[in-house]
Order: sequence, then C-alpha cells, then structure tokens
Amino acid sequence: MDLGGFKLRDVTFSVDKCDYVCIIGPTGVGKSILLETIAGLYNPKKGRILLDGEDITHLPPERKHVGVVYQDYALFPHMTVFNNIAYGLRKKIKDKNIVKQEVKRIAELLEIDHLLHRKPGTLSGDEQQRVALARALIVRPKLLLMDEPFSALDVRQRGS
Ligand SMILES: Nc1ncnc2c1ncn2[C@@H]1O[C@H](COP(=O)(O)OP(=O)(O)O)[C@@H](O)[C@H]1O
Ligand SMILES: [Mg+2]
Repeated sequence: MDLGGFKLRDVTFSVDKCDYVCIIGPTGVGKSILLETIAGLYNPKKGRILLDGEDITHLPPERKHVGVVYQDYALFPHMTVFNNIAYGLRKKIKDKNIVKQEVKRIAELLEIDHLLHRKPGTLSGDEQQRVALARALIVRPKLLLMDEPFSALDVRQRGS
C-alpha cells in the first residue's frame, strides 16, 4: 500500500467480542487509513487481519462482514435514502419484500423512517450520518467501524 509516502506500521491490537474500541490520535496520523484497511479498501503489504479467527486480509469487502460508516458518510447522492440503505442487502437477498421489511425495521430503529423517499443532499448532517449507520448495520456485520461517528451530532446528543 503506497499512499504518497504514508505508511501504517507496527499496528497490533485485538478487540474482544461485544467490545467498543476507540482509536484516538491527532489529525493525519492514519486513523481513517487504518479503518479503511480493515474494511478492505487498501491491501496491506504485510500483516494479517483476523475476524472471528478467520483471515480476512485479502477477502473482497462484501465477504469480510465488516460494516463501515465513513467520515464523510459516502452516501450515494442520486439514490433515495431507501435505496442507500437497501444497497448492501440487495446484493445478498433477492426477495424484495424482505429487503423492504429490513429497511423499514432499521429505519424505525434509527428514527429515519420518515426520510426514506428523500435524497441525501436534502438531509441534515445528523440525518445523513444515521442513514450511513443504517446502511452499514442492515447487513448485520460482525464488526462495525465508524470514522469520527459523532462529528455531525451536537454536544447534547453525543452524550446520549
Ligand atoms: N488517498 C490518499 N493518498 C495519499 N495520501 C493519503 C490518502 N489518504 C490519506 N493520505 C495521507 O495519509 C495520512 C493519514 O491520513 P488519515 O488516515 O486520513 O488520517 P486521520 O484519519 O488520522 O486524520 C495523511 O498524511 C494523509 O494526508
Ligand atoms: Mg480521519
């Protein structure tokens, strides 16, 4: 992996089941690159990434069982909120009714069910972030990675 001279080196850690881990560091230190490497956007030259004992280092992203909420959400601007959330699930499940049910369930959970017909560009930052979270969670990932997950929430919401 060559990112204009930037390299991730000597990164070793493990996470227990059901644990939350925060990676904290100054800007530019490589937090996003680390998450994106675990998610499969970059191919590490050395080292291994294990999930539930399985070596997922070189598996394609859709087979890693890793969900990601990106720092800038990376929502598809031309698609409705419904289609954004359904995106990953449609690759796995062909039954349209099941996809619809699952989108509804997760949208209600995250209180965005009233936004399903809208396009991402018409949403507030906080609403976009919840859509990105729904899109990541709907495929029931074993590991959920969130890059700066509270950046769009106001100070009052961060605590709750
Ligand atoms: N696509 C890229 N190409 C080249 N350099 C990059 C790219 N993405 C990030 N970088 C560089 O890699 C370093 C780490 O970036 P990043 O992981 O985004 O930092 P953080 O998330 O910790 O703020 C920075 O020096 C950044 O400029
Ligand atoms: Mg970052």
